[in-house]
Amino acid sequence: MELAVLIIGAGPAGLATAACLSQHSIPCLIVEREDCSASLWRNRTYDRLKLHLAKEFCALPYMPYPPNTPTYVPRAEFVKYLDLYIEHFDIQPRFCIAVESAAYDVPGKRWAVVARDTISGAEIRYAATYLVVATGENGVERIPAIPGQESFPGEAIHSSMYKSGRGYAGQRVLVVGSGNSGMEIAYDLARHGADTSIVIRSPVHIVTKESMRLGMTLVKYMPVSIVDRLIMMKDNFFFGDLSKHGIVRPKMGPLLLKSKTGRSSVIDVGAAELIKNEIIKVFKGVSKIAGNKVIFEGGKESTFDAIVFATGYKSTLNNWLKDNKHMLNNDGFPKKGYPDHWKGEDGLYFAGFARRGLAGITMDAKNIASNIASFATLSV
Ligand SMILES: Cc1cc2nc3c(=O)[nH]c(=O)nc-3n(C[C@H](O)[C@H](O)[C@H](O)COP(=O)(O)OP(=O)(O)OC[C@H]3O[C@@H](n4cnc5c(N)ncnc54)[C@H](O)[C@@H]3O)c2cc1C
Ligand SMILES: *[C@@H]1O[C@H](CO)[C@@H](O)[C@H](O)[C@H]1NC(C)=O
Repeated sequence: MELAVLIIGAGPAGLATAACLSQHSIPCLIVEREDCSASLWRNRTYDRLKLHLAKEFCALPYMPYPPNTPTYVPRAEFVKYLDLYIEHFDIQPRFCIAVESAAYDVPGKRWAVVARDTISGAEIRYAATYLVVATGENGVERIPAIPGQESFPGEAIHSSMYKSGRGYAGQRVLVVGSGNSGMEIAYDLARHGADTSIVIRSPVHIVTKESMRLGMTLVKYMPVSIVDRLIMMKDNFFFGDLSKHGIVRPKMGPLLLKSKTGRSSVIDVGAAELIKNEIIKVFKGVSKIAGNKVIFEGGKESTFDAIVFATGYKSTLNNWLKDNKHMLNNDGFPKKGYPDHWKGEDGLYFAGFARRGLAGITMDAKNIASNIASFATLSV
């Protein structure tokens, strides 16, 4: 099928790009491997999840949240917002179509895309002048290889499979990973009566959602170093000294760290208090597993019934995007850093690969659509 614009992925980034293109009256096709849009949010997130950032930093282009939406949007309301968004812009993704490869056809000056209809198994080929990759930073689950892991007899799942602490009461559960998901899942487990432990291996900023919101607002008017110092002063006062519980702050402040490395701060939902009260126990890195027993760095060990790996995700671009121009790094992210990351070569674009959440997605979608619109009139 010959197309002007093909978008791969119907998550927030693909949807936002389609909406922005429609503002320029440019038609596009979205293909999506799952049977619904925003599958990450519908099928791979836990029940108590709310957007971590205030809603003013999380709207997609050209559509604010409906009035009365809570400041921190719950998962179900975010999904509802996306459904409204799809309806409003009349976006019609083709579902159950998984892209298996994409390569630039130099003589034809087109992106040649091979996909599979996951229901019939049939192969589908597309040729597109512009290709927008919107398959997400969270393409596939990352679980570290731990010696002895296969000997663990209990349940061991990735955070994307975790729904709720219901059913874990009385069980000894280890959460590996201390990002936003790990901390919130540990909190949820402890709240449901699980005997909860968490592995915190690296320095991390724990911040309140209020100071994050204030910081993100102030940084528009003030140097980031001052805003970072303000956030840390406020939150050190609020949380007290967490270092004796195994939580130390990185050297760079929270906003600078995010913009330089993409690493997020943990926006506390209550885990910090439970860690201080030793209701959630903290361990250093895992060094091996032997049956039910987990041995930690430094020699401590403990026995567990279940493990949740909140160890993040990997981009999949290196698996299927034929990158003759060396646009990608080893992690499957565009080599060009922010703010130029969104524009590849030969009509290739990346939406949602700046590690800047929904605000970053909004910027990418607008940039991509106006760049495509700036080229000669399109014929479909
Ligand atoms: C638990 C969690 C909480 C988050 N909370 C926030 C928050 O509060 N605020 C914020 O700003 N950001 C947050 N983020 C980060 C980010 O905004 C979300 O991950 C967002 O969903 C990213 O949108 P996306 O469209 O780039 O990727 P995704 O939502 O992952 O969508 C990509 C889509 O592409 C499809 N796809 C992938 N590969 C193929 C293929 N080969 N062929 C066809 N289709 C394919 C996938 O099925 C998926 O539907 C959070 C992320 C996670 C994991
Ligand atoms: C994901 O969830 C939606 C609705 O919540 C459902 O319609 C869809 O079938 C689910 N998809 C998968 C692959 O589980």
